[in-house]
Amino acid sequence: MNTPLLTTPPLSLYIHIPWCVEKCPYCDFNSHALKSQVPEEDYVKALIADLDADIAHFDLSLRPLHSIFIGGGTPSLFSAKAIESLLKQVLSRFKQNFSPKNNIEITLEANPGTVEADKFIGFAKAGVTRLSIGVQSFESEKLLKLGRIHNVSQAKFAAQLAHESGVKSFNLDLMHGLPNQTLDNALDDLKTAIDLKPDHLSWYQLTIEPNTAFHSKPPKLPQDEVLWDIQDQGFKLLKDAGYQQYEISAFRLVKDNSADDKQCQHNLNYWRFGDYLGIGCGAHGKITDSKKGIIQRTVKIKHPKGYLDSNRTPLDHLNTVTNDELPFEYMMNQLRLFSSFTLAEYQQRTGLVASTVLPTLLQAQNKKLIACTDNHAIEGQWQVTPLGHRYLNDLLELFL
Ligand SMILES: C[S@@+](CC[C@H](N)C(=O)[O-])C[C@H]1O[C@@H](n2cnc3c(N)ncnc32)[C@H](O)[C@@H]1O
Ligand code: SF4
Repeated sequence: MNTPLLTTPPLSLYIHIPWCVEKCPYCDFNSHALKSQVPEEDYVKALIADLDADIAHFDLSLRPLHSIFIGGGTPSLFSAKAIESLLKQVLSRFKQNFSPKNNIEITLEANPGTVEADKFIGFAKAGVTRLSIGVQSFESEKLLKLGRIHNVSQAKFAAQLAHESGVKSFNLDLMHGLPNQTLDNALDDLKTAIDLKPDHLSWYQLTIEPNTAFHSKPPKLPQDEVLWDIQDQGFKLLKDAGYQQYEISAFRLVKDNSADDKQCQHNLNYWRFGDYLGIGCGAHGKITDSKKGIIQRTVKIKHPKGYLDSNRTPLDHLNTVTNDELPFEYMMNQLRLFSSFTLAEYQQRTGLVASTVLPTLLQAQNKKLIACTDNHAIEGQWQVTPLGHRYLNDLLELFL
């Protein structure tokens, strides 16, 4: 690897909570239906041991933490007390001055079926600054089909509680392209979401993943033309309502005269090929060592039983990303964004020289999938075109 180019990027922390009340038929995340009480005390202990091992292994205590994301699974199954204990211990590991004023973004994912009035307030007091609420749809029939444990009023109530909880911002997760969904159904879902005034919306097209109940017994999904219409008109609706798309599925509310950046800072760090520690069952991490000139990936033990076994180390495997893999890995993340990037950034994040991607970028430019703002490709800003975002997979394949 060409070490002098590689720089140390911001460091985020992902914490995985692997339990849900029930398993949704479309979901391939590492999540398990709870059979008894959630073992929160033991799990927090295991998470901290996992974090300590990573910090020691990668010598990280002096690197500042950029953001934390507690995802799942259903982290809102945990009590506010457990989240407070977890965050206190996590933050104490980093030699950074954390205070309410200079607080970093700390997101927690919540399922509307697992929140009561006080819970969000408790999470906010524990240090959570951002809630991400998994709503999926505001139509009863769709929620049933998706195996969701909540109804429409619980979803709306969760958004209201988020407003009142004291967190800085909140996101709603919605999906489209749902079984038997019409264009009007999808737009109605978006309109209801917009009326709840979330700071951020994640709007995902439903995909049928292997090893899910929907894969074994596929539901009837909308035709391709309907899917295109949903996307086109959905994007327009969101834009007119003040939601700016900054990534394939992510929209932030842009308020007049507000300096607040409602983008998800944690996800932005992934997409810009930043670093992250991943702790918890099956969590993935990526760590750059600019001195050694290497980028390493970690994966933790996947199953809660093995992960909670104190006789085992949480690390399942560790590997170094090869120079052959890096161009695609970088582009797979960066090209999801609507903002531009430079080849200097590419070099700093991968340690590779610009010529490792320049011919492919020029090829993509010829196909009008990407554009450069400058005649000088090395110094210019590269940005995916609307055509490139529409055919993102074709664009990415060029880098394989
Ligand atoms: C890890 S889930 C966590 C959210 C939380 N567990 C919940 O479901 O309420 C994050 C989001 O990914 C989206 N998602 C999960 N499976 C999906 C699929 N097969 N296709 C599209 N989006 C999916 C859903 O919108 C979900 O809210
Ligand atoms: S609640 Fe969320 S993480 Fe759990 S199974 Fe459903 S979609 Fe997956």
